[in-house]
Amino acid sequence: MVGAAVLGALLGDNLLSEIVLIDQNRDRAAGEALDASHTTAFAYSARAQVRAGDYADCADAGIVVMTAGPSIKPGETPDRLKLAGQNTQITREVMGQITRYTREAILIAVTNPVDIVTYCAQAEFDYPRERVIGTGTLLDTARLRQMIAASCHVDGKNVHGYVLGEHGGGAFVPWGLVDVAGVPVDKLHTAFDLPAPLNREDLLEKTKAAGFEIITRKGYTSAGIAASVARVVKGILLDERCILPLSTAQNGACGLSGVALSLPSILGKNGVEQVIEVPLQPGERDQLQQCAAHLKATLGQAGL
Ligand code: LAC
Repeated sequence: MVGAAVLGALLGDNLLSEIVLIDQNRDRAAGEALDASHTTAFAYSARAQVRAGDYADCADAGIVVMTAGPSIKPGETPDRLKLAGQNTQITREVMGQITRYTREAILIAVTNPVDIVTYCAQAEFDYPRERVIGTGTLLDTARLRQMIAASCHVDGKNVHGYVLGEHGGGAFVPWGLVDVAGVPVDKLHTAFDLPAPLNREDLLEKTKAAGFEIITRKGYTSAGIAASVARVVKGILLDERCILPLSTAQNGACGLSGVALSLPSILGKNGVEQVIEVPLQPGERDQLQQCAAHLKATLGQAGL
């Protein structure tokens, strides 16, 4: 489901000349490609060639999106880290194939637990660090911004701030960085005439629970993560040097190494150009360190 949703989001942005779908079920990939080809009659844009292919097509790929592996199912424990053992193994197999053909392509990891998968893909294959990018808390950030925007009745693109750390239970929000038109969270109710101040704890809990609520209701998530992937692809293709919360194998920022998690990162044509040493309050630094420690423990259990 996620791969098909990503395909739709990428087609909508019309920035790509070719999209190759790689799936163990070759028929499924061919069916998705055929279905996608029927959209081009209505697209006021250059047509992307969509086809089923295989790992050899990675040889001249600029970007490879990795979505292989199961997701959390309805009724299962709402903890993506439970998938670490199984999806780390799948990631090893996928990376083993990709690296037969390229070490140049920028890899976008979607498979959960995405921080563990991102670290596995980079560290075990010694892949260029800046070219292994997990969607991380970009989706969580979108969810938080959307909730604040809806409360204030403004466009989500005018809500600033990030969810950082793990795409999961270790996510946290440096609230001092969150604002709407410069108005801090604790003053939004005054500036936007809200019935009551926004509740930070409630906003974070709803953000962290959103993915599992969607899974309970529709069985899986797709649109939000697909839009997140399309946002990263666009930032790369247009060399935007945009700043997004992305998961990368950290190399010293905020005192972190040996783990992948999300920090504000400058994204451009070469992948993550720089991880920003975001200003954190003491309590937030502690949250980040605790998040990193928990992820490292999971890495250890997954043999990383
Ligand atoms: C979600 C999945 C991508 O939160 O983890 O929708």
